Amino acid sequence: MHPTLQKKLMTAEEAAELIVDGDVIGASGFTLSGYPKAVAPMIARKARRLHDAGEPFSISLYTGASTGDEMDGELTRANALSHRVPYQSHPDLRSAINNGAVEFSDLHLSHVAQYVRSGFLKKPTVALVDAVDVTPEGHIYLSTSGGSTASYLLMADRIIVELNSYLGNGFKGFHDVFIPKAPPMRERIPIYKVDDRIGIPYVAVPTDKIVAIVETNAPDGTRPLKEPAEIDLTIAGHLVEFLKHERHHGRLPEGVPFQSGVGNVANAVLATLAREPEMQSVCLYTEVIQDSVFDLIDHDKLIFASGTALTLSIPFQERLKREMELIKSKVLLRQQEISNHPEIIRRLGVVAMNTALEFDIFGNVNSTHVLGSHMMNGIGGSGDFTRNAYLPIFMSPSTARGGAISSLVPMVSHVDHNEHSTKIFVTEQGLADVRGMSPVNRARHIIERCAHPDYRPLLKEYLEYGLKHAPSRHTPVVLSRAFEFHLRYEQTGTMLPKS
Ligand code: COA
Repeated sequence: MHPTLQKKLMTAEEAAELIVDGDVIGASGFTLSGYPKAVAPMIARKARRLHDAGEPFSISLYTGASTGDEMDGELTRANALSHRVPYQSHPDLRSAINNGAVEFSDLHLSHVAQYVRSGFLKKPTVALVDAVDVTPEGHIYLSTSGGSTASYLLMADRIIVELNSYLGNGFKGFHDVFIPKAPPMRERIPIYKVDDRIGIPYVAVPTDKIVAIVETNAPDGTRPLKEPAEIDLTIAGHLVEFLKHERHHGRLPEGVPFQSGVGNVANAVLATLAREPEMQSVCLYTEVIQDSVFDLIDHDKLIFASGTALTLSIPFQERLKREMELIKSKVLLRQQEISNHPEIIRRLGVVAMNTALEFDIFGNVNSTHVLGSHMMNGIGGSGDFTRNAYLPIFMSPSTARGGAISSLVPMVSHVDHNEHSTKIFVTEQGLADVRGMSPVNRARHIIERCAHPDYRPLLKEYLEYGLKHAPSRHTPVVLSRAFEFHLRYEQTGTMLPKS
């Protein structure tokens, strides 16, 4: 290591001492990939020590998206977090948000970097990043996530680098870092093909801002994905049949890229696409690249994948190390304001596939709030992609909690994606394509194709009641009954009426 950098080497514990009460940390990390793993637990330890001494200590934490237990878990349990932005998925943090201990700003992920640069959010005072290399000129090579890290590095006064040797120097070159100019002088973002590179492979920072370098050797703490369940494969099967049908009818131009959301269903869809002999090779213009990218590579079905995070389970992180150059020729990582940018999603004609918690018969989707109130994870990039996609698709099992909850309801209890943005819905029961339909036809179609048989008659009855009694026949919502499924669940533990 160059002597100028060597002087900044310290332990995670020493680096944590540089964090003070009220700091705003802008950290790397996106869907459990590329987040700093060493310093945050030491910040948590410092918080406990200060709290025990009766002194205040709390910080705000901005990231790309969710991080692992070392960060979101440790900091939450130490009561060290006051404000969290913009997405999370840790059970302890989720509880703290829902019991009011942590303030949470759930933002469209493409907005975050500009929010920070424009001063809509408090300026990050410290950037804390997981990197594979840092040079004497101040070139920081990020690890497995792009997130909003470049903007945090540029905005922060102090930078702490976790220099992580797990992936090795071979990882350099995965990133394409580009920051758009501020409005109204913004030029076009010149991505015309999924693999276009428009920036540089590192973030350049003034070296005097780097206050600490902490050496680590730690893989991402991703959770292993389960083998796809029967229900996930059934949903994936409906979707793939639909895509083949669309291609056959000339409505799915060859080469339109796919975006696939987080979790098991999304992974199962890509794995099914990979195995489907009639589906041609695909490009991904997406946010999170999961293990299934290897299914596509193994079946020679991947043309190229652009994302902001490479979220791989441990066996696939090991495989990445072995096949670094092959993967680098097929995958690149961008900052999330670019991977999720409306201009590019619209231009490329992305087919967006995301998961809903619940959706309603008129086509509104709730991805975030259980019973309208309890925050699950956050909207993530689902809004960025859905609103701008060529073909927005929402998937969900038709029921949750062993059948006590219907994912299809008369009216969603919280709206993340409204009926004007949505087009295709898929459950294990079937697929509803509601493009161009009026609200009543949409409702008939969605109920018929997507509802679980236990709930279908109830939804039909609600719609027919609305057509007779609602104040308008256009969208026959009956306000006094619109939440009867949710109310019944709150009162009796099931959305099904007592028989
Ligand atoms: N009401 C109440 N709870 C529900 C529910 C509903 N309608 N639907 C599902 N749930 C519960 C499940 O029972 C489960 O709870 P449990 O873990 O206690 O059993 C939990 O929600 C997660 O359900 P699961 O089926 O495992 O969902 P998932 O892992 O596929 O995640 C979302 C689904 C919606 C939570 C997730 O996709 C998400 O956070 N989406 C928003 C962000 C996003 O789309 N990101 C990608 C953009 S690129």
